[in-house]
Amino acid sequence: MNTFKYIDGSLHCEGVDLSVLEEKHGTPSYVYSKKTIEENAKAYVNSFTNTRNLACFAVKSLSNLSILKIIKDAGCGFDIVSGGELHRVLSIGAEPKKIIFSGVGKTKNEIQQGINSGILSFNVESESELYRIEKIADDIESPAPISIRINPDIDSGGHDYITTGRKGDKFGISDTRKVIDLCKYAHQSKNLKIVGLACHIGSQILDLDGFMKSADKIFELADELENFDISLEFLDLGGGLGISYENEVPPSPLDLISCLEDKFKNRKERLILEPGRSISANAGVLLTKVEYIKDNFLIVDAAMNDLLRPSLYKAHHDVCNVKDKKDNLKKWNVVGPVCESSDFLAKNASLDVHEDDLIVVKNAGAYGFVMASNYNSRPKACEILIDGDQSKIIRQRETLDDLLEKEKIEND
Ligand SMILES: Cc1ncc(COP(=O)(O)O)c(C=O)c1O
Repeated sequence: MNTFKYIDGSLHCEGVDLSVLEEKHGTPSYVYSKKTIEENAKAYVNSFTNTRNLACFAVKSLSNLSILKIIKDAGCGFDIVSGGELHRVLSIGAEPKKIIFSGVGKTKNEIQQGINSGILSFNVESESELYRIEKIADDIESPAPISIRINPDIDSGGHDYITTGRKGDKFGISDTRKVIDLCKYAHQSKNLKIVGLACHIGSQILDLDGFMKSADKIFELADELENFDISLEFLDLGGGLGISYENEVPPSPLDLISCLEDKFKNRKERLILEPGRSISANAGVLLTKVEYIKDNFLIVDAAMNDLLRPSLYKAHHDVCNVKDKKDNLKKWNVVGPVCESSDFLAKNASLDVHEDDLIVVKNAGAYGFVMASNYNSRPKACEILIDGDQSKIIRQRETLDDLLEKEKIEND
C-alpha cells in the first residue's frame, strides 16, 4: 500500500499536501502515514488463519511512541533490544507477555528490568548470557523465561552488514549440541524457564527460502528436545522481510505467513515473527529542502545525521519532487551539509529542481530517524504523523539549546 501520491501536481501523504508541512513545521522533517503503519501491521496480524501466533514489531526500526501505540493497537507485540526500548514499549502500555528481548549484549540492569517487567522471553544469544540471566533470576528470586537464539548458518542474501544468520556472524549460537545442552541445563534450573527457540537470519530478505530452511532447522532442534521432555511454547523465526526500495519485488507478509502456516500445520508451538522494516519503511519519508545547487550536487538541508543508511550501507532510496515536475530532468547527487564525503542521500537521482524546492527521500520510515545523531551539532529533525487530513507533531524538532542540555562547562 502507498499513501504517498500526487494530487493536483503536489505530493500528498494521505490528505495532507507535503508543501504545506514545510510552512507549518519546517524542514528537514520525517513524515509518517498512520494508515500505512496500521495496514502494514495488520498485514501480519490478519494473515494468520489457523496457527497460534504473535507478531512482535522490531522497535529498533522505528521507535517513536505514537507509532508504537498504533502498532500495539493493531494487535502486535514488540521485539526489543535494550532497556531503553523496553521503557518505550511499557510507556505506551504494551502487554509484557507480548515482549521479546533480543540482542547479544544485555546488561545486568537490562536483564533485571526485563524479569521485573514480566516479559514473554529473553532470546539468549550466548552461554554466558544464559548463566548471567540465571544468576540474576536467582538473586531476585524471580524466574526468567528464556529461548535460545540459534545461528542456523543460513545466508539470507542482502548487504553484509544486515545479514545475521551465518556462522561467522555475532548473533545466536551456531553449535547445535551446545543449544541442546543449554536447553537441558535451563530445564533443570530452578529459575530459568525454557520456553522457545529463536532465530533471525537478516534483513531486507527478498525470498522465502531462508525462512523455510530456518523453520526446518528449528523444528529439528525442537523435536530433539522433546526426547528430553522439553516442550517449547513457541518458535520464533525473527523478522527480515524486505521491501521495494528500487525495483525489488519482495514477498508479502501474507506470502511468508501462508508458507510458514503450511509448515506449522502439525506443530503445537506458537509461531512468533519479529517484523520491522516491512511494517515501518514505506510508511515514512524524509522531507527536505534544496539549499544550494552546485555542479551536479543538490545540497539539501537533511544529511547523514538525519538518515544514515546511504552512508552506512550505500543503501538506495528513491527521491522525488514535492511539486510534480518533469520538464527539465537532470541527474543529481543529493548531498547534505555535513563535512564528510560520505554524506549523501541519493546518487544520480533524476529530478527537475531549483534552489528552495522541496524533495522527499522515500521509504525512510525504517532505520531512519532511529539512527539520527547530532553529528556536526545538528539538531534532530521533527517527526510528523499524518492521519487523514490532519498533521500532528509526534516529536518536536530539537532546538539549539537542546544540543547543550546535558553538558556543563567545568570550573564554571
Ligand atoms: C533480532 C531481530 N529481530 C528482528 C529484526 C527486524 O528486522 P527487519 O527490520 O528486517 O524486519 C532485527 C533487525 O535487525 C533483529 O536484529
